[in-house]
Amino acid sequence: MTIHRFPQDFLWGSATAAFQIEGAALEDGRRDSIWDTFCRVPGAIVNGDDGSVACDHYHRMPQDVALMKELGLQVYRFSSSWARVRPDDREFNPAGLDFYSRLVDELLGAGIRPWITLYHWDLPAAIPGGWTNRDTAHRFVEYAEKMAETLGDRVQDWTTLNEPWCSSLLSYAGGEHAPGHTDPREAVAAVHHLHLAHGLATRRLREVLPDDASVGLTLNFTVADPVDPDSPTDREAARRIDGLQNRLFLDPIFRGAYPDDVLADLNGLGLESHIRDGDLETISTPIDWLGVNYYNGAAVTGSPDNGPAPSPEANGRRVGNPNIGSEWVEFVPRGLPVTDMGWEIQPDGLRRLLERLHVEYTGPADIGMYVTENGCAMPDRADEDGFVDDQDRIGYLRGHFIAVEEAIAQGADVRGYFVWSLLDNFEWAWGYDKRFGIVRVDYETLERTPKASALFYRDVIAANAVEE
Ligand code: NOJ
Repeated sequence: MTIHRFPQDFLWGSATAAFQIEGAALEDGRRDSIWDTFCRVPGAIVNGDDGSVACDHYHRMPQDVALMKELGLQVYRFSSSWARVRPDDREFNPAGLDFYSRLVDELLGAGIRPWITLYHWDLPAAIPGGWTNRDTAHRFVEYAEKMAETLGDRVQDWTTLNEPWCSSLLSYAGGEHAPGHTDPREAVAAVHHLHLAHGLATRRLREVLPDDASVGLTLNFTVADPVDPDSPTDREAARRIDGLQNRLFLDPIFRGAYPDDVLADLNGLGLESHIRDGDLETISTPIDWLGVNYYNGAAVTGSPDNGPAPSPEANGRRVGNPNIGSEWVEFVPRGLPVTDMGWEIQPDGLRRLLERLHVEYTGPADIGMYVTENGCAMPDRADEDGFVDDQDRIGYLRGHFIAVEEAIAQGADVRGYFVWSLLDNFEWAWGYDKRFGIVRVDYETLERTPKASALFYRDVIAANAVEE
């Protein structure tokens, strides 16, 4: 048996997002976000689910924090809902601000470090044009500033955006996420405006927050391997996916430039037309850490001569293809075990990703990384007491903990890990059909029951080590 030990100050936590757990969608002044309106589109969400009740965290917050304490969490990553804090994009809502203030106090009282994300996809529906509109970046800065003024005395760690790939390509070209559009030109506009929102907000946060505050953002990554490493077209497919899903987001932030090869891949979609003087300097404002979300590995193939690959299915429904300019790239199953999402389980992809990011991006910038999301949906079965003996999830987590430790041993500066997710919750287009929690939520009674994986995680945190 090998024991993998983590650095002494390594932080262990879990993550959630406002729309996925809070519910109370129209209470205390909250108004529609683009996800509330998207949920009303017939066929957009499995079973017609929506976020109106979700896990009812809005009303059960103190109990949920007590549960985190029982599990020994050291840090909790949550998001604030823009639509709750500034409903209809008009006045700030004191009740909305108060909810996050109470949450932060509750966490601090329980000895848990609060880690806030300002944008986890619930854009107020009232903002015209959403992320295709440059002005949305400026609206975001106003909201970020208000949050910093309200919580800056108690919250040290600030995340501007969660997974801008999802809020741009998957939402405006893929059609799978709100607002459900399938227009590649809109998607590239959204990419640039999200980048700008991040850069402008980072600058404003630094002005408002105390000097020891830390500001970063969370990106999602795809580790795409060519199906046949000797095939030039498969290697080209892998380069394109790496460009579109990883470097399109990393390079403006770390290098102040969009990668030339990706701009060439996106030729004709007008990305450059959105860039104004000074934007890239703003976007590359230094950050204090990079948040890394990783779930699965992928193998890619295809050839431009074959025409577009079939669009991925969302909820049994054909939607757009988020791989704009590279629609011919196909994702091919390799026969690896998969999660309930159908995602390939490949912990070694996380090790390789962390090592690469350290060498190419975060190391040169002299900053650390946090795994801000990792976890899995599994086909959970609850016994009559609501307990889930999820050995499959434990296996997934163990493999990924070991991958993180191995990356650290190779020199990658990884400072913490957040399991996705604390609770079963609203899994976007999949509604309540997919369960990612280490704590089961019974959606009839809203009762919470820690799964075997939660108890396993508690032990790993206590030992700051994992057995292989
Ligand atoms: C990433 C997203 O940030 C989160 O909201 C989502 O639930 C997980 N991936 C799982 O799909």
